Amino acid sequence: MEYHDYEKVYSATDGYYWGSAPSQMCLKVISLMPPDKHLKLLDIGCGEGKDAVFFARCGYDVSAFDLSVAGIEKVKRLAADANVTVNAFTADIENYRLDCNYDILYSSGVLHYLSLELRKEIIDNYRLHTNTGGLNAFNVFIEKPFITPPPENEEHARLWLSGQLLTYYHNWLVEDFSESIIDCDSSGILHKHAMNTLYARKL
Ligand SMILES: C[S@@+](CC[C@H](N)C(=O)[O-])C[C@H]1O[C@@H](n2cnc3c(N)ncnc32)[C@H](O)[C@@H]1O
Repeated sequence: MEYHDYEKVYSATDGYYWGSAPSQMCLKVISLMPPDKHLKLLDIGCGEGKDAVFFARCGYDVSAFDLSVAGIEKVKRLAADANVTVNAFTADIENYRLDCNYDILYSSGVLHYLSLELRKEIIDNYRLHTNTGGLNAFNVFIEKPFITPPPENEEHARLWLSGQLLTYYHNWLVEDFSESIIDCDSSGILHKHAMNTLYARKL
C-alpha cells in the first residue's frame, strides 16, 4: 500500500479499516492523565478516528488530524454516532505546526511518515506546545534486522531507530518506554512490526 492509498482504503467502504475499538495506548493515557479536569488532546494522524472518538467519549477535549479526507469524514461520522465532538481536520504532518498548547499529544502508527530531516523540528514543536504536566504518547515503527520489511511498499515511510524517539525526551519524565514485536495482517498478509512506545511527561 502506498502512503497516499489510505485515501482509497478509507473511501472503499463505509466500514472502518482499523475497526472502531480503541488502541491499548488509550488506556495507558487515561491511567497517566485521567480526564478528571478539562484536558486538551490532539491525535496526530488519527486515521478514521477510533482513538480520537474514544478519548472524546471519555471526556477529553479532542482535536485530531489526518492527511486523508475520507479518514476525516469518517472521524466526524464516528463522533456524531457517539454523540461527541471531535475537532477533526485534514493536515499533513510534515507541514503542520502547532500554534496552541495541548495537555496530551497522541500519535499511533504515523510518525514514520515524517521525513528524517523534519523529525527533530517537529518533535521540538510538539514538545514546545505541550503544557507543563502534560503528556506525549507516541509509538513508532522501528528498524530491526530480524524483522522482514512489511508487504506494503510504502515509499514515504522511514522506520525509526530503536531508542531514537526516547533521545528527544531526555529532559522530560519518561513515564514508560518499551519495545515490542507485533503481529499485523493489514493488506491481508500476516507480518510483524517492531515498535517503540513512549509516554513522556513535561515537568
Ligand atoms: C497506520 S494508520 C494509523 C491511523 C490511526 N492513528 C490509528 O491508529 O487508527 C496511519 C495514518 O497516517 C496517516 N498519514 C500518512 N501520512 C500522513 C501525513 N503526511 N500527514 C498526516 N497523516 C498522515 C494516514 O492517512 C493514516 O490514517
